[in-house]
Amino acid sequence: MTLSDELIASLVRPDSVHKRVYTDPHIFELEMERIYGQAWIYVGHESQVKQTGDYHTTRIGNQDVIMVRASDGNIHVVYNRCPHKGAKVVPDGDGTAGKFFRCPYHAWTFKLDGTHLSAPLRNGLHNTCFDPKHPDFSMRKVARVAHYRGFVFASQSHDGPDLATFLNGVASSIDNLCDRSPVGEVEVAGGVFRVQQRSNWKVFYENLHDTMHAPVTHESSASSARAQADQIGSMPFELLILEGNGEPYEFWEKLELRAYENGHGYMEGIFDPSAATRDPVAAEHFASLSQVHGETRAREIMGMNRHNTVIYGSGSPHTVFQQFRVIRPLSVDRTLVEIQLFRLKGAPESVFERALVYANAINSPSSNVMPDDVEVYARCQQGNQTNGGDWISMHRYAGTDREVENGMVSTNGTSELPMRNQFAAWKRFMVGQAGSGKGIE
Ligand code: FES
Ligand SMILES: [Fe+2]
Repeated sequence: MTLSDELIASLVRPDSVHKRVYTDPHIFELEMERIYGQAWIYVGHESQVKQTGDYHTTRIGNQDVIMVRASDGNIHVVYNRCPHKGAKVVPDGDGTAGKFFRCPYHAWTFKLDGTHLSAPLRNGLHNTCFDPKHPDFSMRKVARVAHYRGFVFASQSHDGPDLATFLNGVASSIDNLCDRSPVGEVEVAGGVFRVQQRSNWKVFYENLHDTMHAPVTHESSASSARAQADQIGSMPFELLILEGNGEPYEFWEKLELRAYENGHGYMEGIFDPSAATRDPVAAEHFASLSQVHGETRAREIMGMNRHNTVIYGSGSPHTVFQQFRVIRPLSVDRTLVEIQLFRLKGAPESVFERALVYANAINSPSSNVMPDDVEVYARCQQGNQTNGGDWISMHRYAGTDREVENGMVSTNGTSELPMRNQFAAWKRFMVGQAGSGKGIE
């Protein structure tokens, strides 16, 4: 089925979007090609492949890829496909290939950058067109690989902006996540959570800055936390973070939403920066940073008051609670979210323990919060399959967004600017002009 650029462009209006973008499998296929075939996508953190031969598998859109550490220390990203009969060379997950890849089917071997090494009983291949130097007999590399402070991204396109240009204003979220470590480095630790959602991938990105949903969707978990705190006469951290979603609308209205080219953005203002002086874990963290950088810089680092960041196509790093929610589209109505946690190297262990508590209480499949969201995402998917209407509204505070350096800022924290910005980028990717324009149209 051919979908014309004109038809695709007609699905996105400045303040609304046609439901077909969430439900049409042909559009999903085109997204795999035009968004995931072009954009820089986070494939993993270098700490996941510490030693030569260590690998981590993931997906760029609908493509299975392997991130692997070679003997020269370089990290390569190759498609998980053997050029003989096409078998996946390594199973999904993390592991060690050793000095080279060896296909489990007929034992063709490849260097850790994918280059052909050998095939058993080579005599049988003599006097044929088989040429071990020809790229058809090697594992293929993904077109471009780049790192940003240990975070490895890959792009399936040889063309397009470099990684730092692509990330634009949200590179500062990765900076702040790393800067929170006294030595400026983080590592993946503590395992990962995986949640499969019965909804289109874009719904999750939209929700990340959807402040209007918090007190409604999470009403039960927030009110239960409040009731529990009343009963015990105090509000420990575990309950505080559950209760936070129940803040009144006035709280959310004061937040600031930033939107950048390519669909990226972040939310500022949710945490109380003065907590560093009152909270014992934050105080310990502050002391460890002050020791290295002095109090002024430590205050600057911990004062960056940022909640969910959106790196469109990759997922959502969280600076304060050291996580990266990696978002992987599986099909038009299935999405896999993998939550990676990070340890701040050199910071007190209590900081990592707190991040674990946060992830368990808010993001894990057994938390009281994530299931609220997953349920409404599935309801959006189901509702949009009915004949009950065609358009999705993104009208809130439309037309009021202000331009700032390299991007846009909301005039109210309940603005649907982030969604409008994501779909403006979506449209540019899908009709072939990504990376050439500004945020909102
Ligand atoms: S499929 Fe890999 S060696 Fe045959
Ligand atoms: Fe939520």
